[in-house]
Amino acid sequence: MKTLAIIGGTGLTKFDQLEEIIKHPDVKTELGAPSCNVIEGRLGKYRLLFLPRHGHPHAVAPHKINYRANLLALKQLGANEILAVNAVGGIEKNAIAGHISVPHQIIDYTSGRENTYFDGLFRPLDHIDFTHPYDQSLRTKLVSILSGQPLENGFSDFGVYGATQGPRLETIAEINRLENDGCDLVGMTGMPEAALARELGIPYASLCLVVNPAAGKSNELITMDDIRAVIETGMADIKRVIEAYCQ
Ligand code: HPA
Repeated sequence: MKTLAIIGGTGLTKFDQLEEIIKHPDVKTELGAPSCNVIEGRLGKYRLLFLPRHGHPHAVAPHKINYRANLLALKQLGANEILAVNAVGGIEKNAIAGHISVPHQIIDYTSGRENTYFDGLFRPLDHIDFTHPYDQSLRTKLVSILSGQPLENGFSDFGVYGATQGPRLETIAEINRLENDGCDLVGMTGMPEAALARELGIPYASLCLVVNPAAGKSNELITMDDIRAVIETGMADIKRVIEAYCQ
């Protein structure tokens, strides 16, 4: 049986659909502990591992997440593929609140994060290929599932994800810069997660839920109340997609 790991983001801190649940408390790695307990269970044809990257309850800030430990923990527990769920701001015009996107590229604007295993300390210096940061066959499968789902706010089978440092949201000028760079989406957790999965050789793709128009893309300020309201229905869509993926 294949093992799929789900890394939950903001709004996805538990996954009730699992059967035969086992909790893995106190998972330790050579690089410290993951954000919280990893939950194992069965979903359709898959053994599933669930790890909320911000912890449960949601408390670890994007720049404080021990991404290296999270990914190592999932590898230790046998993950063969990883599906990351990311709440994002929408930059391109179709990326309205509730829209789901399967990004194909990333630009990394983060700084100061532990972003590699190959740092010459943990592992000898090495340079992975990262031309296509997301696994193409996982992306294709996700897109085919999305096209069979009733999604009120649509989906995109592409997207450039701009990874910002957070935890604050961006200024209008920063979003304009990202847009000029070609970003369609903006989030705080896409990197270094995707690169670490590649370093570990685990196929990785992301399902992004747009939870707000990025700064300056609507006339309103961005409030957490508005974001929470979108998450409520949007994460139900994401869970349906994951369930369909596992059938
Ligand atoms: N910017 C960065 N990260 C985000 C946003 C945003 O607008 N919305 C959700 N995560």
